[in-house]
Amino acid sequence: MSPKSDSTWDLDQRPLANATGHFVFLSVASFLQHWPNTLYRNGHNIVPGTIPRGTLLYHGALMNKFPSHHDWVATDPEHANLFCFGNEERGCWQLTLMAKRELKVLYFDGNSAAKMKDGVMDSQDILIWGESRPDYVFDEPRRITKLCEWGKGRGVDGFVSEIMLCDLSEGTHVVSFLNLHTKEPLILAQPPTVAPGTPYSHHSAPTDLSPGPPQEDPLPPLPQPQLGVILLNHHKEFRVLESGSWHNHYPGDSRIQLDLTRLISFYDTDLFPSLVSGRVGKPRRKHRLEEIAKDDVRRMYKRLDEGLDPGERENGGSGVDWKAIVKVVTNRYGQRLELLQYVLKGNLEGGLGEGQNYTAIVLDAHDYVSAMLTPYAIHTAVPRHPQDKTNLSWASPVFKECSTAHTASIETVFHSQLTLSERLILDSIQDTTKEICRVLVRIWAEGMVLKSHKLISPGDNPINLPEIVRRWKERILGLMEWLAWDTWTTCRPICRFEEMCYLPTWPFFFQDSQGPPDLDDLPKPYCIRRLPPYTRPITG
Ligand SMILES: *[C@@H]1O[C@H](CO)[C@@H](O)[C@H](O)[C@H]1NC(C)=O
Ligand SMILES: *[C@@H]1O[C@H](CO)[C@@H](O)[C@H](O)[C@H]1NC(C)=O
Ligand SMILES: *[C@@H]1O[C@H](CO)[C@@H](O)[C@H](O)[C@H]1NC(C)=O
Repeated sequence: MSPKSDSTWDLDQRPLANATGHFVFLSVASFLQHWPNTLYRNGHNIVPGTIPRGTLLYHGALMNKFPSHHDWVATDPEHANLFCFGNEERGCWQLTLMAKRELKVLYFDGNSAAKMKDGVMDSQDILIWGESRPDYVFDEPRRITKLCEWGKGRGVDGFVSEIMLCDLSEGTHVVSFLNLHTKEPLILAQPPTVAPGTPYSHHSAPTDLSPGPPQEDPLPPLPQPQLGVILLNHHKEFRVLESGSWHNHYPGDSRIQLDLTRLISFYDTDLFPSLVSGRVGKPRRKHRLEEIAKDDVRRMYKRLDEGLDPGERENGGSGVDWKAIVKVVTNRYGQRLELLQYVLKGNLEGGLGEGQNYTAIVLDAHDYVSAMLTPYAIHTAVPRHPQDKTNLSWASPVFKECSTAHTASIETVFHSQLTLSERLILDSIQDTTKEICRVLVRIWAEGMVLKSHKLISPGDNPINLPEIVRRWKERILGLMEWLAWDTWTTCRPICRFEEMCYLPTWPFFFQDSQGPPDLDDLPKPYCIRRLPPYTRPITG
């Protein structure tokens, strides 16, 4: 058992309000995936990674002029094509590069390509300036220049959310530079939340594309839109959403490979104690890094330097595939918790309420929980306190077995090989499974007690079964809220074949009959058509 994890097995003991293990877990489960990083826009992790040889990277441009140094590239041509500006007569240009050697990158999680305030840029800001700089949110040229300055000498070729490459001619091979058909630029409408006059990004200002010598024969100026709500009515824009959706869930964009042994998480309370209290009581969505203390920033730079310099590293790590283990846990419990919640809401029987067969609900739910816990249900763990039905300490061995199943042996066998980052991940898996198991084993044990007293039976019943259903339902909902797994946010009912489930993201918000988007709340997914007209179907 790792020293940081609590090794008591009390079924009544909830995690502390300032616990972060489940957030580290969710981060690792979400890296490089579009959906969770759209749901929780504010990134809280920086991870060194690589782009393997042979990977194609795309860049859209106004002119057939090779970008002079740093610039943005995308892993899908659909995304680059958004910046392939031009007019019908001249077309626009698409540069395709291939990584000739492994490119070293730093990955920021969250939706850090979105030019939004309120935390989306925090982790980049802290790396560049040591503090959050909302005044630079839209100043992409400054951001990429500063990041590349920092990365120079540390061997970093680029930065990923959308990929910023520091030198497009370094380590790459030019595959093609094609003159393509173009359509009119994006149509953007100004949203109510952004102050007028806020400078827009390279995305819409073609003059920002290549800060080299002045281009001869400039095109007539294109409209200079504000940060906006794109009215989706073109194939071009829709195809970006479509290609983004290919990376919605595990394993995400597999062309970028992260080295989790060198993960830096702002949820690491040893590295970043100044962030702990500000997060208490706030949902994942609202977590910020603004209040980071100078000492913590210093520790971040030190860890980054150690991570990027092989000579400085404590050790190479254990070789454990953390991403796979985290996936095992989300596989084991993701859909099952959702189904259990469905059962406890009485959905199998047509809803809770007067005249409902609560016996059936309790039995169904308990059978399902028992099935989930089968691998840990030790034979000797049986209700043992006939006098005290509420004393569930007999179930502790099951709780422990369930909680440590995925982590205990790693701790024992690889103890001395774990890097600090790996230890953080190990603890996060342990903390997360522990709370899942605590809630499940408690329900299981309560049901076992009821059964051992023959108290779950139709007819005369001294036990208030509706009350038990209410309690179990509340606990499962509470657990799911605590875990906040993104896979539970999806379109219900599921979309038709010609539609896809879409989670509104910057800057593709629909402004239609359903009213303006709410940029503050947790985005709510809905079905949109995959073919024209690209409207959001009106749901009844
Ligand atoms: C979290 O809260 C507990 C109890 O309130 C406190 O003892 C502990 O120091 C806090 N942890 C951190 C990292 O601040
Ligand atoms: C309620 O469900 C139980 C268990 O499935 C069943 O034995 C019982 O007959 C049901 N009671 C009624 C009134 O339908
Ligand atoms: C529950 O039972 C265990 C073992 O039988 C005992 O040690 C413990 O004190 C009991 N707890 C309570 C709250 O009575």
